[in-house]
Amino acid sequence: MTKPPDTFRADVVAGLSRAAKELPCKYFYDEAGARLFDRICDLPEYYLTRAELEVMGSHAGEMAAALGAGCLVIEYGSGSSLKTPLLMSRLRYPAGYVPVDISREHLYASAAALAARLPGVEVRPVWADFTERFDVPAVAAPVRRRVVYFPGSTVGNFGPDDALRLLTGIAALCGPGGGLLVGVDLRKPAAVIEPAYNDRAGVTAAFNRNLLVRINRELGADFDPARFDHRAFFNAEHSRVEMHLVSREPQVVRVGGAVVRFAAGESVRTECSYKYAPEAFRRLAAMAGLEVVRTWTDAHHLFSVQLLAVGS
Ligand code: AVI
Repeated sequence: MTKPPDTFRADVVAGLSRAAKELPCKYFYDEAGARLFDRICDLPEYYLTRAELEVMGSHAGEMAAALGAGCLVIEYGSGSSLKTPLLMSRLRYPAGYVPVDISREHLYASAAALAARLPGVEVRPVWADFTERFDVPAVAAPVRRRVVYFPGSTVGNFGPDDALRLLTGIAALCGPGGGLLVGVDLRKPAAVIEPAYNDRAGVTAAFNRNLLVRINRELGADFDPARFDHRAFFNAEHSRVEMHLVSREPQVVRVGGAVVRFAAGESVRTECSYKYAPEAFRRLAAMAGLEVVRTWTDAHHLFSVQLLAVGS
């Protein structure tokens, strides 16, 4: 299997050279970052994972019934998901399971775990960046419908243009009659959202700063992570949480052959996490040729899992 192209150095240098500095959030997930993210999912303030598990626990049977028999399930960012078996075990005669992940370790571990739990299902992992084009492997069983499963509200980490591009790509990959089952965090008051990104134990701050640790290790940079503060807030105008690393003082850092200057208080935006009102997500999906067929939420309406169909 071919290694996905490595653009880490180019992306970091380009992001830090902008007038408003930013770093792509997809680089959070090295080994340490993935472990920190697993801890975030268990935090009392981080409602997203618990709410999504509640939705899947209560409604996976209805989702499977709505999807029907003979689905080839293609999971975007398979990670170490607990939600996938909830769905897969309810599907009638699934044609196969295709986890797609950029992290090789996560991919093969989650593929093996699922294969062990569902012995009758053909599992064909794909090591790829799902934002780029990739080939869907053939499976032995007849495929009635391709369905992309995209849990975890990762769609929220894409800005509007990239989200539209991604959803358009999903519609093309699944083809007419295909489907998308996607986890979407819902818009709600900042008082509920902000603590999820500012936990008292400081795990999210460590997750944010770990990006600098990774840049030091992999690109030979000389960031001192302790000289940057973690900042996260809800930007109501854009309906998104923004995470930043804010320089505590004026400083100069060497990164991948470039020299980067920071003023005191200058920030690097490291992540956006969009929160969608149902109508806003419906509009975005429609632009991509996808129609929202059903929406399930948790009891407190914090999080949704939505079933979308590719229009013909
Ligand atoms: C993976 N993604 C949906 C998480 C989120 O909530 O946007 C990443 C995260 N960032 C900080 N905490 C969790």
